[in-house]
Amino acid sequence: MRIPDEVRADIPLTRKVAYLDNAATSLTPAPVVEAVVRYYMEYKGNVHRGVHSLSEEASRAFHEAREKVAHFINASPEEVVFVGNTTEALNCVALGLTFDPGDIVVTTELEHHSNFLPFLRLQNRGVTMKVLEAVPPGVLDGEQMEKIQGAHLVTCSMISNAMGTVLPVQEIGAAARKEGALFCVDAAQAAGHVPLDVRKLGCDFLAFSGHKGPMGPTGIGVLFMKERVQNQMEPCFLGGGAVKDVSLSGYQLADVPHGFEPGTPNIAGAIGLGAALDYIRKIGISHVQKQEALLTRLTVDEFSSIPHVTWYGSRELETHAGVISFTVEGMNSHDVASILDTHGIMVRSGHHCALPIMKKLCIPGTVRASYHCYNTVQEVELMVDIVREVSRTLAG
Ligand code: ALA
Repeated sequence: MRIPDEVRADIPLTRKVAYLDNAATSLTPAPVVEAVVRYYMEYKGNVHRGVHSLSEEASRAFHEAREKVAHFINASPEEVVFVGNTTEALNCVALGLTFDPGDIVVTTELEHHSNFLPFLRLQNRGVTMKVLEAVPPGVLDGEQMEKIQGAHLVTCSMISNAMGTVLPVQEIGAAARKEGALFCVDAAQAAGHVPLDVRKLGCDFLAFSGHKGPMGPTGIGVLFMKERVQNQMEPCFLGGGAVKDVSLSGYQLADVPHGFEPGTPNIAGAIGLGAALDYIRKIGISHVQKQEALLTRLTVDEFSSIPHVTWYGSRELETHAGVISFTVEGMNSHDVASILDTHGIMVRSGHHCALPIMKKLCIPGTVRASYHCYNTVQEVELMVDIVREVSRTLAG
């Protein structure tokens, strides 16, 4: 598929607004919406619960979606658990593992609250949390790796949602493995933007949402659980479909993934995610990366020459994703975002659920433009022109 034009043709909203808030959620192409509608209109049935033909057809489509996810991250379908979103997946890891008092969990100062709070709470169980600290302009401090020593679990994001920084996950994963620690990757900002391969990452857990980079529906997410760690995990919830046997005195849990998916799952969401991954494959992830790199380079080049504007994240563009956080001196980030909104440009403002890094940088928040393959040079130029105009007003 040709980007951005062919993808834009599939997304009517791109004709109405300049949508630069893809780190929050991405727009959804028509074939993905159509796959969801087809399930509701043509073969709606529950999965794994009946012998009638609609149930069988729905079960088949649900299973195919799982296979597509497995292929997308180079896992086996038996390692793919459907959840609601990245937050749920990361909470499952924190609550599903057994920790002893004194165990060490390591995370980073660049994390979204979803990869921070579930692990911070483990302090109530006597777990010690260590944080790999960040330094301005929003990158990991290279001197922090020794904090991984003695860790039981290391968890970090691939790309910071607040700074756009690409974290050194390979290096962090290698350090975790050297210590015999479990390694968990928050791929919320990476999925659909960069290739994902759980074998190359060497991770035990990986989490992502369907509605961000993959351009799928909301309410569907994925928790990859490597086969060898599955017996260390307890599901957070129990119920229908999650057991092999039940008696008055006990139960036998079903194998993964079913043991971790009690109740009726988000069938339409999973089918939509499968269609979204088909769509991403048709575009080609390398084309997505190329377009986002072009827009990122353009943004930081322009921002670097605008007075009163500071942009954050790695100065090396190879380690800066298509998420550009910036501040305009003396202006509240929400005011800048509101001005952009009046020109039809959608960006996010505030602390982006990443207060630790905001506090480290001594800022209350930033304006954040985040890209996908359907964004254009013209959209970025329009945003830059308005930010330049805002900066001129300040000078005057
Ligand atoms: N986590 C999402 C963001 O960064 C909502 O905007």
